[in-house]
Amino acid sequence: MRLDKFVCKSTALTKAQAIFAIQSGELCINGHVFTDEAVQVHENNTIMLAGEKLTARPFRYIMMHKPAATICSNIDEAYPSVLNGLMVDNVSELHIAGRLDADTTGLILITDDGRWSFNITVPSKNCSKVYRVGLSREIKEQVAETFLHGVQLQGEQQLTLPAILKVITPKEVLLTITQGKFHQVKRMFAAVGNRVVTLHREKIGDICLDVEEGQWRYLTIDEVQSFTK
Ligand code: URA
Repeated sequence: MRLDKFVCKSTALTKAQAIFAIQSGELCINGHVFTDEAVQVHENNTIMLAGEKLTARPFRYIMMHKPAATICSNIDEAYPSVLNGLMVDNVSELHIAGRLDADTTGLILITDDGRWSFNITVPSKNCSKVYRVGLSREIKEQVAETFLHGVQLQGEQQLTLPAILKVITPKEVLLTITQGKFHQVKRMFAAVGNRVVTLHREKIGDICLDVEEGQWRYLTIDEVQSFTK
C-alpha cells in the first residue's frame, strides 16, 4: 500500500494532511525518513510519525442490500450513493467490489482491502454471481443452451463465458455468470430478443444476501476467507 494511504489508515489525518506530513519529513520507515508519499509500504515495516509507531486499522468487509435508485459510487450523482446508508467511520476509504446498475437491487460487497476485492472482480478468478431476473417476454426454451455455450454481446469480440440459466416461471429466471462486463445481464437477454425488467443479485461466490433492503452487516471470517482460498 502507498505510504499516504497507510498514514490515512492508521491516523485521523486526511489525505492532504498525510501528504503534507510525509513531505515535511515527519515519516520514518524502518528508521529512515521518506518524503515520497507514493512509496510502497508493507504492514511488517516499522512506520513512525513524529516519533510514534503507526498501526493500520484492520480491513473491513461488509455485505449490503442495495436498494433501487442508488448508485455504486463513493459520491452522489444522478442518484444518491448507496454508501450513504452505511453508518461507519471513514466511508471514503471503502469501495464496492463489483458494481450494480442504479436500477439493480441486491448483494454488494464493500471493503477497504483492495487485494480481497481483486479476487472477486478479476475475470481470471471466475467468481460466480447469481442474479434473479424478471423478463418482459416469456423465456424461450433454447436460451439455457445458448447461454451455456456463450452468447455474442453487441460490441464484444468474444462470446460470453458459460452461464447457467434456471427457469423459475416463464418470466422469472436465475442466471449464474462468472464475468462482470458492463450491463452484462441486460445485454445477454437483449442478445436473445428479451428485455430485463427487474434485476436482483442474490449471491457472490459462496456469500448469500441475508439482510433486508437498505440494511448491511459485517461479513463473518469464513465469508471473508471464502475469497482467499
Ligand atoms: N448486469 C447488468 O446488466 N446490470 C447489473 O447491475 C449487474 C449485472
